Amino acid sequence: MLVLGIETSCDETAVGIVEDRFTMRANVIASQIDLHARFGGVVPEVAARAHLDLLKPTIDEALRDAGAALDDLDAIAVTHGPGLIGALLVGVAGAKGLSLATGLPLIGVNHLKAHVEVAQLEHGELDPPVLALVVSGGHTSIVALDADGGMRELGATIDDAAGEAFDKIARFLDLGFPGGPAIDRLAKTGNPTAYAFPRPMLHAPGNDVSFSGLKTAVIRELRRQEDAGEEIVVADVAASFQQAIVDLQVTKTVRAAADEGIGTVVMAGGVAANSQLRADMLRVCTKEGMRLIAPSPRLCTDNGAMVAASGSNLLARGITHTSALAVDSGLQLVGPT
Ligand code: KG4
Ligand code: ZN
Repeated sequence: MLVLGIETSCDETAVGIVEDRFTMRANVIASQIDLHARFGGVVPEVAARAHLDLLKPTIDEALRDAGAALDDLDAIAVTHGPGLIGALLVGVAGAKGLSLATGLPLIGVNHLKAHVEVAQLEHGELDPPVLALVVSGGHTSIVALDADGGMRELGATIDDAAGEAFDKIARFLDLGFPGGPAIDRLAKTGNPTAYAFPRPMLHAPGNDVSFSGLKTAVIRELRRQEDAGEEIVVADVAASFQQAIVDLQVTKTVRAAADEGIGTVVMAGGVAANSQLRADMLRVCTKEGMRLIAPSPRLCTDNGAMVAASGSNLLARGITHTSALAVDSGLQLVGPT
């Protein structure tokens, strides 16, 4: 069973091919970072136009990498939400065209579920109960995947997504776009205890998190140093800010898993590529006797293989969609797909 997955929900035009649910045969990413960097963030119209130019060559390259022809495929999967509406439309229209031209079934994939399910390409079948930390540019939540196949959201951010906080602080520190990887790199040379930035809601009951207070504290501290004529050590600010976000995520995730009696944690989404988050989560999970599943960083950030993997799971359950498949920019992680 060979499934091609198309991902165009944000600024990566990406196509992956997965065989029999678990084997990655191709994973091609045509990044638009250079196009958006000069604007300091993703420009939706620019993203949609670039997807239009890049989709066909990216599909061709993925097929070449997999050594496969369109005839060899069993289905076309595509992210239909959540994401930027214009960007999603390009991928879904492309997938529908391909499905109509080849007669292959079309499968609409939930981008956030795909972030979680990509773990199966390196770690095999996720065996619920599993606790998932889903942290990306637009989403932050802690979700229980239950043994009966159900999903429950246990907590979420009440303001910014984790990736959004990284990107905003990086912009403030003039570190460029995208901010998460830039802060991750710079923080390696900084002191994470140089500033005692707040960890909002760390000890509050429940599993929700908040980043806006942390963001404000960082910005206020930078202004104070500027006004006082102090030299700002950007690496220390980056490391201290990152450590605050990491502490919040690790504490809340592991506590939620313990409360639920769940022994396996899976990390998902672009922020799960963060090296400090991965290291600290592994340390604490190990200490608590929990198993940590952390997909390789290149599978955490947006890619086509995750869409192909999630599409394969749906196909295996006999779920396909008609050409009436609609995009849903606000599609939720927990709820109908
Ligand atoms: O999942 P993703 O690739 O796209 C969305 O679905 O949003 O996540 C992108 C987010 C961006 O905010 C980016 O700055 C962040 O993930 N990110 C990171 C790292 N790599 C990507 N944040 C922290 N550390 C990283 N290494
Ligand atoms: Zn994503």
